[in-house]
Amino acid sequence: MSLKITVIGTGYLGATHAAAMAEMGFEVLGLDVVPEKIEMLRRGEVPLYEPGLGDLLRRHVAGIEGSTGRLRFTQDWAEAGAFGDVHFICVNTPQKHGEYACDMSYVDSAVGSLAPHLAGPALVVGKSTVPVGSADRLARTLAALAPAGEDAELAWNPEFLREGFAVRDTLHPDRIVVGVRSERAEKLLREVYATPIAEGSPFVVTDFPTAELVKTSANSFLATKISFINAMAEVCEAADGDVAKLAEAIGYDDRIGRKFLRAGIGFGGGCLPKDIRAFMARAGELGADQALTFLREIDSINMRQRGRMVELTRQALGGGPFLGKRIAVLGATFKPDSDDVRDSPALNVAGQIHLQGGQVTVYDPKGMDNARRLFPTLGYAGSALEAVRGADAVLHLTEWQEFRELDPAELGEAAAVRLVLDGRNALDAELWRRAGWTYRAMGRPTA
Ligand code: UDX
Repeated sequence: MSLKITVIGTGYLGATHAAAMAEMGFEVLGLDVVPEKIEMLRRGEVPLYEPGLGDLLRRHVAGIEGSTGRLRFTQDWAEAGAFGDVHFICVNTPQKHGEYACDMSYVDSAVGSLAPHLAGPALVVGKSTVPVGSADRLARTLAALAPAGEDAELAWNPEFLREGFAVRDTLHPDRIVVGVRSERAEKLLREVYATPIAEGSPFVVTDFPTAELVKTSANSFLATKISFINAMAEVCEAADGDVAKLAEAIGYDDRIGRKFLRAGIGFGGGCLPKDIRAFMARAGELGADQALTFLREIDSINMRQRGRMVELTRQALGGGPFLGKRIAVLGATFKPDSDDVRDSPALNVAGQIHLQGGQVTVYDPKGMDNARRLFPTLGYAGSALEAVRGADAVLHLTEWQEFRELDPAELGEAAAVRLVLDGRNALDAELWRRAGWTYRAMGRPTA
């Protein structure tokens, strides 16, 4: 008999995981506590922008013409408890307001709400990013609350998907990591992933704390790589070097690698910034805070890039206040191929210039609604060309493909001044310069 899967939480992690499990042939029940999300998903609509996710969902959501019908959604914990052999916890773990620590309330409430409905054998699998030690604590909660007693077990299976690549990363993961305490749990998880998903993916079996730490240390390493290259960008600027060439050259060394070495306004989003902060907070609780003091520097290098971008813009405009200057901002999301504006470096830079008197007009291919909600006082335009019209400077702050395909000559006709500042080191500098633009970027020589 094929396993039945429930997925608790239908954000970009849960919705993608649920659809991927249905794609692998399992019967899947997704649960969310937000009724609007459930209604949308039942219609095959995705409550967020994630390339390919809509198509994957519609292939499986029950009631949609031509679908396999293997994927359903509910708000009912009892239904979920009775349905699943394996229950994946995919709720978010944001940063606590005003603190570094991670807010575990959604995970705690998911396990607490599900457990009383687990009457028979069940495996509850945490996928959310949590402070090390959480799985052990949640296992005890489960044992205390589940009528099934020891037959209801916990496992940890961190998720490494990137926004914008969620479908690809879920269907073809680099590795599958499981933290388990029994052979039964390992066997069940091997069965779940004994599908094309696991083909060619290393399957790492370990204990709870290691599984939890794999996720936080992987994200810390990625954050470190980005802040490292941004620190090099600062030195390059001081020494008149070129950080893009430097990154290319050091990246040819396999031990370093070329990925995640793009200098610019730094990392944002719902994961890297809060994960490194939560990691520091947890290490402090464990008495190991000294081991992670370097992450404080990684965080501060990252945050500094936003202010440096503002200063680069000011200098390029001749110094002095922004008052009366029209600034076009291309990009609002924290990265391309996402509509996520959480902790977006682009909006932070736009907001700083606006607060200093600049007249800012933002355009983003997918993030406009979310940006407007978060920063209602900024100006917004319906296209890049419209944003650039009459601008004294154009800031490229999120590297959407659409921006790389812009015609600098056409934009040059619309702008008041041909000055472009590339906060992502992603535009073709020569192309823009040939069209008469002054091109500036962080960590790059001025001409
Ligand atoms: C990250 C991890 O990559 C993923 O494995 C984990 O599961 C969740 O956190 P995500 O937040 O989707 O994924 O974004 P990612 O692609 O890692 O980019 C994070 C930020 O770093 C973005 O703001 C991006 O613009 C920035 N970045 C990335 C750089 O500034 N330079 C780079 O070279 C790469």
